[in-house]
Amino acid sequence: PAAHGQSGEKLGLSTGTYPLLRPRRNRTDSWVRSMVAETRLSVADLVWPIFLREDENSDREIASMSGVHRLTVSEAVEAAGYAQQLGIPALAVFPCIDEDRKNPDCTEAVNPDNLVCRAVAAIKEVVPQIGIICDVALDPFNANGHDGLVHNGRVLNDETIAILCQQAIVQARAGCDIIAPSDMMDGRVGAIRCAMDQADLQDVKICSYAAKYSSAFYGPFRDAVGSGGKLVGDKQTYQMNPANSDEALREVAMDLSEGADMVMVKPGMPYLDVLQRVKERFAVPTFAYQVSGEYAMIQAAGRNGWLDGDAAMMESLMCFKRAGADAIFTYFAPQAAEKLHAG
Ligand code: PBG
Repeated sequence: PAAHGQSGEKLGLSTGTYPLLRPRRNRTDSWVRSMVAETRLSVADLVWPIFLREDENSDREIASMSGVHRLTVSEAVEAAGYAQQLGIPALAVFPCIDEDRKNPDCTEAVNPDNLVCRAVAAIKEVVPQIGIICDVALDPFNANGHDGLVHNGRVLNDETIAILCQQAIVQARAGCDIIAPSDMMDGRVGAIRCAMDQADLQDVKICSYAAKYSSAFYGPFRDAVGSGGKLVGDKQTYQMNPANSDEALREVAMDLSEGADMVMVKPGMPYLDVLQRVKERFAVPTFAYQVSGEYAMIQAAGRNGWLDGDAAMMESLMCFKRAGADAIFTYFAPQAAEKLHAG
C-alpha cells in the first residue's frame, strides 16, 4: 500500500494542511488494533445460563429462544462437560418444573430432591471443577409466577425470605457454589448469609441480583421456565423502576453490607450506564446479565439476515466488558467461547 501522506503531495498540497493528529494510524492493521485495544473479552468472562426439564417427556423447545433448549439432568451434565472443555468457568441453572408441582406455597422450591438440586448434584459428580450458580427466587415453583409468596394480591417480603433461606440451603447442600438471589426482597442477602453460615455453608458465595429492573426483556425467560403465562399482574412492587440509577447504587450498597460477594446488574445492554456506575463506585466483582430478550433480539435479527448475528453477539459482549463487567451471563456463552477459540 502507498505510504500515508503521499496522496497529499501528489495533489501538490503541503501535508501541513492535513490533520496533524491521525487516530486512524492506530487502526490500519489488525495487529496494531489489537495492541491498542483497551478491553479484552475472554472465555473466562462468560457464565452460561441453562434451562432444565424434568425428563424426556417434558418440552425441549423454547419458542421465543431459538437455539436454546431445556435440558434433562443427563443433558445438563453433558452441557457442563462441554462448557468445561471450552473453558467456561460457571453455569447458572434454571428449572422448568412440571405444572402439578407448582403451588402458592412454593413447596417444591425447598425440596432437597427437586430438579435444581438433582441437576447440581449430577453435574458436580461428573464435572466437579465447574462453578454452579443457582437462582434464589420462587417464580419457577409458584402457581402465580411471582418471585415471592403472594397474599391478598401482595408479595410478602419477610415471609418470602424465610423460604428463600431454605431454598438457598438445599441448593448449597446439593453442591451449588454461588447462591444468586434474584427475588429483590428487602434484606434477603443478610438473612441467607446468616442461614447458610449457621448451616455450616460458610464457603458458599452469594451473587446478589442487586440492581434488578422490572423489565420487558425477561419475556422469553418466563416462557422458558413456564412462569410467563401464569404471572398475575407484574413485578413492579419489587423489581426496580428502569428510570432509576441512584437507587441501584443504594441497592448495591445494602447487599454488600449484608454480605454479598458479587453483585449483578440486570438486564444488560440497556443498563450499561448502571453497570459502569456500580463498578466505579464500589470496585467489587460486578456481573451483568444479557437477558433472554436481548438474546432473542440478536438471534432473531441474525436468523432473518437483518444483521450479522455472530458479529452483533461478539460486539455486545465486548461492550459489557468495556462498561466494567467482570463476568457476563449470556445464553451465547458456548457460541461466543467457540468463536474466541477460533480466534
Ligand atoms: C427470576 C429470574 C428472572 C430472570 C432471572 N431470574 C425473570 C424475572 O425476574 O421475571 C430473567 C433472566 C432472563 O430474562 O434471561 N427471578
